[in-house]
Amino acid sequence: MDELWRAGRSAADLAAGHLAAVPAGPVWRPVPDADRSWLARQPLPETGRPLETLLDDVRERVLPYPMGNGHPRFFGWVNSPPSPAGVLVAPLAAALNPSCAGGEHAGVLLERTAVRWLAELVGFPHQPGAGLLTSGASLATVVAMATARQWAAGRDGCDVRETGLYTSRPLTIYVSGEGHSCLRKAAELLGLGSRHLRVVPVDDAFRMDTAALRRLITADIRAGLRPFFVAASAGTVNTGAVDPLDEIAEIAREHGLWFHVDGAYGALGVLAEQPDPGYAGLARADSLALDPHKWLGVPVDCGCVLFRDRSAPRGAFSLVPPYLRDDGADELGWFSEYGPEQTRPFRALRVWATIAHLGRAGVVRLVRRTTGLARTLAAMADAAGDFDLLAPPVTSVVAFRHRAPSPDRADVLNERIPSVVQRRGRAFLTGTRLSGRAALRACVLHPDTTEADLVILLDEIRAAAEEITG
Ligand SMILES: Cc1ncc(COP(=O)(O)O)c(C=O)c1O
Repeated sequence: MDELWRAGRSAADLAAGHLAAVPAGPVWRPVPDADRSWLARQPLPETGRPLETLLDDVRERVLPYPMGNGHPRFFGWVNSPPSPAGVLVAPLAAALNPSCAGGEHAGVLLERTAVRWLAELVGFPHQPGAGLLTSGASLATVVAMATARQWAAGRDGCDVRETGLYTSRPLTIYVSGEGHSCLRKAAELLGLGSRHLRVVPVDDAFRMDTAALRRLITADIRAGLRPFFVAASAGTVNTGAVDPLDEIAEIAREHGLWFHVDGAYGALGVLAEQPDPGYAGLARADSLALDPHKWLGVPVDCGCVLFRDRSAPRGAFSLVPPYLRDDGADELGWFSEYGPEQTRPFRALRVWATIAHLGRAGVVRLVRRTTGLARTLAAMADAAGDFDLLAPPVTSVVAFRHRAPSPDRADVLNERIPSVVQRRGRAFLTGTRLSGRAALRACVLHPDTTEADLVILLDEIRAAAEEITG
């Protein structure tokens, strides 16, 4: 244990030193061949070695090559820097190393608080036990969709857990064209078939077109299918758009569909100074996916799925073999009865620490600051004359395009810009496609990003465009 005392102190210094040095370094840099080979192709060691020497390797070969998301000028995808409180407690969760499947211990009890805090933050009604932490929103979506599948087929007199989907009418799903790919993955994984997933068109602001949703549901009912699941977005990955949740909740209610909200990235946007009106109706969802490892900054991994009614996921997942029978469990049972994971990590400690450190006020400040910066970036791009804004900034994502010298080259140029910006190392952004055209998207999540960083981002895009066009 003396070895762990000593090396543990060094590891703490290394972590804090790394975080302090990040802003002065490149946002991202390619891994040179020698280190790439060391990282990816090490032979299995025959014998072990002292802990301190492991830290030497981490210092020399691991920490110099981050993904980039700790840097204030990282604007890619939806990846936040780690919250200091999360970094602080992560090794302590590892030191305890519980399985949060269930039982009477701190990990399980604290998850009850973490889940309730997340629900309270976004204004979702909380029933004790009606939610759990997951690896991310992809798994949260699988849990929600599997729950809805059991519920919907059950209403038709079919127990999918017993019969599979063989005896039910084809179940159809509704997702907007801007819905996240994890929805389709979940549908495929659960045997629902992507051919039964309807892609609902979006309006000019990339929100689900509710008239089209109604038409698609009606056509499927007429065709003898069973519409069962509509997934609305509270913050799409491309533009941060928020679907009109209240209207979609109403359509779901009228037609007996499960109403799911994907708030993986954007659920916290409800805390903005002037939240988008689309958020009204969030609290009507049957299930809500949200990712503490996104805007909130909880170190990866941590997703969450919240339910209106805890009996629904338990009905879809509970399976307690004799060796796991726990006569001392309370009426909520074990977390492993509410999802597919049996052994579950102590994610709650990182969520608890992050929220306890920030307080509700700190979370609100973070959301307001980052949404404010996104608005500033949008205004700067709009006023500059060499960019086109592609969507109004609703949360903290800005979607835009750099103007090419000739319009027919704009797609090629904007497709290539992100990788050149990334390689230059002063900022990091990623691209997407919007309405069939190449687009740039910058997502602001870092609490230390400043307006000066936004100026650098736009200049880096210009420099990359010049490099590309020669
Ligand atoms: C809107 C949205 N939904 C779902 C996901 C998937 O989340 P995860 O990567 O945590 O599985 C993402 C990830 O970026 C997202 O932005």
